[in-house]
Amino acid sequence: MTTRHFLTLLDLAPEELRHIVRRAVELKAMQRRGETYTPLPNKVLGMVFEKSSTRTRVSFETAMVHFGGHAIFLSPRDTQLGRGEPIEDSARVLSRMVDVIMIRTFEHEKVETFAAHSRVPVINGLTDLYHPCQLLADVQTFTEHRGDIAGRTVCYIGDGNNMCHSYINAARQFGFHLRVATPEGYEPRGDIAAAAGDALTLTHDPREAAAGAHLVVTDVWASMGQEEEQARRVQDFTGFRVTPEIMALADADALFMHCLPAHRGEEVDAAVIDGPQSVVWDEAENRLHAQKALLEFLLVRQ
Ligand code: CP
Ligand code: NVA
Repeated sequence: MTTRHFLTLLDLAPEELRHIVRRAVELKAMQRRGETYTPLPNKVLGMVFEKSSTRTRVSFETAMVHFGGHAIFLSPRDTQLGRGEPIEDSARVLSRMVDVIMIRTFEHEKVETFAAHSRVPVINGLTDLYHPCQLLADVQTFTEHRGDIAGRTVCYIGDGNNMCHSYINAARQFGFHLRVATPEGYEPRGDIAAAAGDALTLTHDPREAAAGAHLVVTDVWASMGQEEEQARRVQDFTGFRVTPEIMALADADALFMHCLPAHRGEEVDAAVIDGPQSVVWDEAENRLHAQKALLEFLLVRQ
């Protein structure tokens, strides 16, 4: 059995991703009915966090408890990783003890190196380049509220960051059209954008991106690790806030999503994120269900 990793949405075939989203909806319904489902007894998830987290940590840890397994939180502050033990050695050792590993870190190459030396599946819990777990939850959330996302138009307004890159990959894999509006100088990486071909339209005009869209998405202007750029970015992103006026340009049934944490009054107005088109709380909850489906896929289904 070959070890499958989930470092980007491109690691799974479109049909496999669709299976995970369908399964996430089922697992959510099972949990709502109070059913106990423990497909991972005695299995252990190692979680390496080199950046902060609320949703990712709690959703993965809860998923493992519900599934009959266990999760171990590992931070650089109190592991040898933080004292310079090579990533390759850490991967070799951890993967001889635990059954699956999740990593949140800075350089994407780090999760690639880790996976290359791991005997067990590695899940990307966010890097500077991608946030694929979030997209499983986002697509699940759209599907639950509006049906299949294939053929729809999604608008992403803001920084060409890890969320933007994962939306670009999702457009390719789930078959929707993505319009990305960024300020000049904050475009997504050229090779990632180019690989999406016709699935992606890039613009510097948020209004053009929003026109008729079925889903409007944004993210923070300064990601983790960019805190010192915050003031400059607030200036550079002027005009890129998702406002009620932007939402009014989208489809009348458009949804609003944000991976959270959000900064009301920066990338989004409170009237939007706390308004009737926002599904951000379902989106956050679905991290749990989507990642349960992912863990089941990686550890049970193959
Ligand atoms: N959206 C998300 O990944 O949240 P956390 O940073 O809280 O994990
Ligand atoms: N782009 C954000 C996402 C946080 C979930 C960051 O990397 O900080």
